[in-house]
Amino acid sequence: VRQPIIAIDGPAGAGKSTVTRQVALALNLTYLDTGAMYRAMAWLVLHSDIATEDESAIAELVSQATLEFIPPRDQQPLQVIINGENVSQAIRTPEVTALVSPISAYAAVREKLVTYQQELGKLGGIVAEGRDIGTNVFPDAEVKIFLTASVEERARRRLKDFQAQGEDNISLQQLEKDIQQRDYQDTHRTLAPLRKASDAIELNTDGLTVEEVINKIIHLVQ
Ligand code: C5P
Repeated sequence: VRQPIIAIDGPAGAGKSTVTRQVALALNLTYLDTGAMYRAMAWLVLHSDIATEDESAIAELVSQATLEFIPPRDQQPLQVIINGENVSQAIRTPEVTALVSPISAYAAVREKLVTYQQELGKLGGIVAEGRDIGTNVFPDAEVKIFLTASVEERARRRLKDFQAQGEDNISLQQLEKDIQQRDYQDTHRTLAPLRKASDAIELNTDGLTVEEVINKIIHLVQ
């Protein structure tokens, strides 16, 4: 039998990564972090001498890039390798995070990554997280979840993540501003903007523990 595809979309900081990874683990499906792919492209641009506005040069850069994703197993996080270089950590910096929304709005970037994602999903058996999975990448996904939370709650979660990494010169207000800006850019772009698919189930995670969210999704899948 064909394994299902589960699409988990939503804004930055709604808890998609942790939840998607755990759901994949629990259901023995492959975890697909599409945000990491867009981050890899932003990293590539940041470490080139191409201007971030130069769409045609970026298209060329991206078309020549080789991407490799090693899904998380055991306690290992997802490994992202671009042109032979392991950038798994480097794609999480604030510099890359700030650049990824504008870079992910370019057609050449989206085309390359969506094709890659659809190729990976051909046989099913995937839990994919992103912004356009249910609307654009896998419109026929068996289960679609739209994960949300208030800006305040999302900023608090991000702050905790940064603090856990020993990063403590970022303020809650700055994180709220960054999240609002990324939400605005992701929902207002022309190509595959962030929005809830008409057949997605919306799950607001304010006040819910990670465990509760995971259980709700597994219940929905079953
Ligand atoms: O989920 P994450 O925060 O890693 O995503 C980083 C950025 O990548 C998003 O803010 C969005 O601009 C872009 N993205 C996208 N489409 C996806 C996944 C991520 O445009 N499917």
